[in-house]
Amino acid sequence: MTKIIAIVSGKGGTGKTTVAINLALAMNEFGHNVILLDADLRSADIGLLLGVPPSISTLHDALAGQKNITEVVYHHPSGLNFIPGSIAARNMARVDLQPILSRLRGTVEIIIMDLPAGLHQEVFSLLRIADEAIIVTNPELPAVTDALKTIALVEQESKVVRGVVVNRYGPDSMPLGSIQEMLDQEILGVVPEDDYVKRSVQVKYPVTYAYPLAPASASFKNIAASLLGKRAVH
Ligand SMILES: Nc1ncnc2c1ncn2[C@@H]1O[C@H](COP(=O)(O)OP(=O)(O)O)[C@@H](O)[C@H]1O
Ligand SMILES: [Mg+2]
Repeated sequence: MTKIIAIVSGKGGTGKTTVAINLALAMNEFGHNVILLDADLRSADIGLLLGVPPSISTLHDALAGQKNITEVVYHHPSGLNFIPGSIAARNMARVDLQPILSRLRGTVEIIIMDLPAGLHQEVFSLLRIADEAIIVTNPELPAVTDALKTIALVEQESKVVRGVVVNRYGPDSMPLGSIQEMLDQEILGVVPEDDYVKRSVQVKYPVTYAYPLAPASASFKNIAASLLGKRAVH
């Protein structure tokens, strides 16, 4: 059985894509068969962040019926399998990922789906495809408020909220206890604000791969391990 996990946040720029890439990579390193899917169709950036040339075929070509979905699965040097979207902006009105993803169901254990920001129709329909959602928030009130709305939305779609990742935590952040109290969900893990994340973007490798000993990398591995019911070994 394939499990589809959506990475959502409500607010933009909280770190959904960073969390999606690094959790998928860490789960793969733990020996699980994972595909990372860029479902942020209007501003797909996973291909860019993983260093693939812009000319390759993407999820958009599969959606247009020009490629089979299995032809747009790429293999990163880290071992991670991923499906990038096109970086060229396109009109993505009424896209249905469901039929395409049903072709992957059964062939892979976990699909990590990176979603767009916002609380709109496109996000609702992507949530409907998912089995579970992981909420990404930053430790500040506007992000946590949007996370709360997102949780309500996930529950409204009768999907499981797996828990919350608090990303970019620092010394002046909102206390974890207040975040937990507001959201009333399990905190899966806390990822610190970490300059190695920015460096990893420059070298086009995920931080857990390029800088495995960085503080953020340790957090991503711990979160992946707890999601998989394992203990992380550093
Ligand atoms: N833990 C972190 N420490 C430092 N920078 C981070 C961290 N997480 C994300 N970022 C940076 O924040 C920006 C937004 O992250 P991104 O993953 O693209 O967010 P989203 O997908 O939610 O828009 C990126 O420049 C990313 O490198
Ligand atoms: Mg993103």
